[in-house]
Amino acid sequence: MAHLSESSGLDELLAEQVAYYEADARAYAAENTSDRPEIRRRLIDELRPHGDVLELACGTGHWTRELIRHAESITAVDASATALTINRARVRDDRVHYVAADLFAWKPDRLYDHVFFGFWLSHVPPSRFDSFWKMVGGCVGLTGTVMFVDEDDRSTLDAVEGRFDREGTPCVRRPLRDGSEYEIVKVLWNTEELEDRLRDLGWEMNVRPIHDMFLVGSGRRTGY
Ligand SMILES: C[S@@+](CC[C@H](N)C(=O)[O-])C[C@H]1O[C@@H](n2cnc3c(N)ncnc32)[C@H](O)[C@@H]1O
Repeated sequence: MAHLSESSGLDELLAEQVAYYEADARAYAAENTSDRPEIRRRLIDELRPHGDVLELACGTGHWTRELIRHAESITAVDASATALTINRARVRDDRVHYVAADLFAWKPDRLYDHVFFGFWLSHVPPSRFDSFWKMVGGCVGLTGTVMFVDEDDRSTLDAVEGRFDREGTPCVRRPLRDGSEYEIVKVLWNTEELEDRLRDLGWEMNVRPIHDMFLVGSGRRTGY
């Protein structure tokens, strides 16, 4: 099946995804019930991201506050102004620089020692996967490292919420308490397939499952 074309609904879908997270930012910030806090701290301590770190789709700061325990500085990018405000208030550290931007349009103007993104890759549509990783490559060159965390294909999402296909882009519907409903992208990767795909794009990434439904990827770019 063809992917959503650039001229049809894809831009609208991505705008709806931003609108959803903007509307949900305060509830997302309060999310503290799962085992994620423990996973976050352990993973970041394992990797110890050093130097100047770029955090993509930083959200309300769940990861930012862990990253800053090791990094010298963080550039934290997100499209939601509310998420950035909450992140700033939560992390309260002058070494974190906030950038409000759409990651499908944003371009780095320097290299970083490390790029991190948590629970973001699953929101990148298949048709934007290659260009997203090209952008990430422009952030680390051949010297920096990349790490990401997300849900993987063992997720219970399909059983609980049900995904649907919008012209080749897997999506879920997310309701808010006010009765509004948003469609957002949700790609659940298989670790081996993701590792192979990234290798084809010139990345040497180790992608492994952790816990019952998460994956973690880490590595570097090996060529262009
Ligand atoms: C699932 S949340 C993850 C937030 C954070 N990384 C975490 O794990 O807590 C996805 C984040 O992506 C952001 N986002 C969605 N679309 C975006 C876009 N086009 N450009 C930049 N950020 C975007 C949302 O505002 C939200 O903060």
